[in-house]
Amino acid sequence: MGPYITLPDAVDEVDVVIAGGGTAGCVVAARLAAALPSLSLLLIEGGADNAGNPTVSHPLLFFTHLDPKSPNNIMYTSSSPEPQLAGRQLAIPAGGILGGGSSINMMAYSRALLRDWDAWETEGWRGENMIPFLKKFETYVGPGDAAMHGSSGPIQVSRGTFASPRAATQFISAAESLGFPEVEDLNDLVTASGVQRQLRYISPSGLRQDAASRYLRPLLEDERRQNLHVLLEHRVGRVLFEGTRAAGVEFMANPEFQRDEPPKARSVRARKMVVVSCGSLASPSVLERSGVGSASVLRRARVEQIVADLPGVGEGYHDHPLILHSYHTALEPSETINSALTDPEVLGKWLQEGNDILGSNAQEVAFKVRPSDEDVAGMGREFQHRWEREFKNGPPRPLVGGALVMACLEDPSPAPRQNISISSFNLYPESRGSLHITGPSPSDPVDFHSGILSDPAGIDLTEQVWAYKTHREMIRRTPMYRGEVAVTHPRFPAGSAAACVYLDITADAEEEESTKRRRERLTYTAEDDAAIEQWLREHIGTAWHPLGTCKMAPREKGGVVDKNLSVYGVQGLKVADLSIAAGGIGANTCNSAFAVGEKAADIFIRELVGDSQA
Ligand SMILES: Cc1cc2nc3c(=O)[nH]c(=O)nc-3n(C[C@H](O)[C@H](O)[C@H](O)COP(=O)(O)OP(=O)(O)OC[C@H]3O[C@@H](n4cnc5c(N)ncnc54)[C@H](O)[C@@H]3O)c2cc1C
Ligand SMILES: *[C@@H]1O[C@H](CO)[C@@H](O)[C@H](O)[C@H]1NC(C)=O
Ligand SMILES: *[C@@H]1O[C@H](CO)[C@@H](O)[C@H](O)[C@H]1NC(C)=O
Repeated sequence: MGPYITLPDAVDEVDVVIAGGGTAGCVVAARLAAALPSLSLLLIEGGADNAGNPTVSHPLLFFTHLDPKSPNNIMYTSSSPEPQLAGRQLAIPAGGILGGGSSINMMAYSRALLRDWDAWETEGWRGENMIPFLKKFETYVGPGDAAMHGSSGPIQVSRGTFASPRAATQFISAAESLGFPEVEDLNDLVTASGVQRQLRYISPSGLRQDAASRYLRPLLEDERRQNLHVLLEHRVGRVLFEGTRAAGVEFMANPEFQRDEPPKARSVRARKMVVVSCGSLASPSVLERSGVGSASVLRRARVEQIVADLPGVGEGYHDHPLILHSYHTALEPSETINSALTDPEVLGKWLQEGNDILGSNAQEVAFKVRPSDEDVAGMGREFQHRWEREFKNGPPRPLVGGALVMACLEDPSPAPRQNISISSFNLYPESRGSLHITGPSPSDPVDFHSGILSDPAGIDLTEQVWAYKTHREMIRRTPMYRGEVAVTHPRFPAGSAAACVYLDITADAEEEESTKRRRERLTYTAEDDAAIEQWLREHIGTAWHPLGTCKMAPREKGGVVDKNLSVYGVQGLKVADLSIAAGGIGANTCNSAFAVGEKAADIFIRELVGDSQA
């Protein structure tokens, strides 16, 4: 029973409907289907199948999913120019294909700290409660204490089939010279900072490990299991209620795939449960269209029936603000992935003949760093207050994350110099945004404010300025460094000591030159800082890590779901995706999405088993 794109008439009532077949949604659907063979389930995903799609299976092709025109993503764009972003409207891609973000993301393996889960302050979701779920989904092939990792889960984690050892070795040594040590395992759930060769959601043989192909596919191909239906290329418009009990969903063909006829709404009944798993940028809209949300938002949007007045729906959006800055290097073309971006012929050849580089996510080194006391002293009063309050004491946590990316995505035109990049992102930003529907139909626009860099004290910006200087200093100290790709850097005032450079030196001289650079850090004047801030406002995006728009918290604190992921004020309705994040996740977020899927499945299975026994 494969996935289908027309729902058979016979499937008009099931036990459980799961709206959204993304990262968490696929985990929930697969775990429920396997544990509860006597229940019928329907998973409805807005995007297409991901099976047999080479842009999914070959990690290297991740960059195609950043294209706003890609059929595999959904672009969420801020509704109006955001003043704090120099008047830009941010356009943020998220997964729009079976497997969701896990099918299109950059596959960086990065785990939240146990203390991140603790900070959610929800019974059953503390770090120690989450360990079994964090281990359950992975088969880890990497360094460190095996007891902190999984060994038999569906998602393989490894280094994949491609590395740039020279770049990694030089970069790590440079980071160490600045006091950021290489650690054996940055993902042991307690290590707060350090530098490590990056692990990836890529099998040792070089294939992407996404939730659809690793969780769902084996079930769908198993002749003995007939209880899981998967409907693709259809969007759930809203949840249908009988009184305050969720009783089914209304859905229609996704016009992006089926343009011929105007989509007609259909509905399916759910006898026991409806699970919304459309991701942080879509789940709140599904709830609001269903009559669950702030009463004033619902009235303004002409939603006919207000089922539950929940002002927290669509509030609290946050994401990790991310900037990329690029550098000239003396690396060989074979050490970067630039040819894949610039030369269709080379890429075509690799795809045809096979090549280890296809198993690359381009990210070579991962790092999470904290400022030293001396650094903190120079970062302003507002930041210092935050630091004292939230970072200085207690189990440590990092401030910013980053990766060494073996490509220049901004300006990948072929040239003698191989350019590579650093991504820098705040791990615990203060800024919050929101998204709300403006009308009852899925085709009505959503009022979305990213709020990126909007915290009134400018703390997120301060952290980014520190990250830029620190990360730039790291790469500047490597022998391979040949200067900055100026168009990807701030416009420093004329004569600035921090101005971008282009070094024309030979390999013989590079060791000595880098030793010289290590002796003196770049210095930045107030004007230079202003240039960095302006550049950040003009160019910063997000790390594609949307969080927190249906958060799990007490109702009076703006919560939308309780510890069982039940939506307040109604029955039979669950949310299971990263919109439930009740606090910051100091890591790339896919790991937490898998874990939320596993934990949600555990909760739902217990309830559904109890149900059928009662
Ligand atoms: C470009 C990119 C790069 C990233 N890189 C990394 C990385 O390197 N490492 C990392 O850890 N994380 C990364 N992430 C983040 C990570 O992939 C996400 O945090 C994670 O996938 C979120 O999971 P989710 O289950 O909350 O939502 P999603 O996986 O986004 O799933 C939501 C699903 O719902 C579907 N949907 C939406 N609306 C509807 C509707 N109305 N009806 C039916 N279906 C609907 C969508 O098509 C999607 O499949 C990246 C994300 C992106 C987009
Ligand atoms: C590197 O950057 C320079 C300056 O922007 C550009 O001209 C060149 O094409 C880039 N090279 C590669 C391989 O990306
Ligand atoms: C959560 O589920 C458990 C087990 O089904 C139940 O005992 C408990 O009352 C539920 N809690 C809430 C807050 O609904």
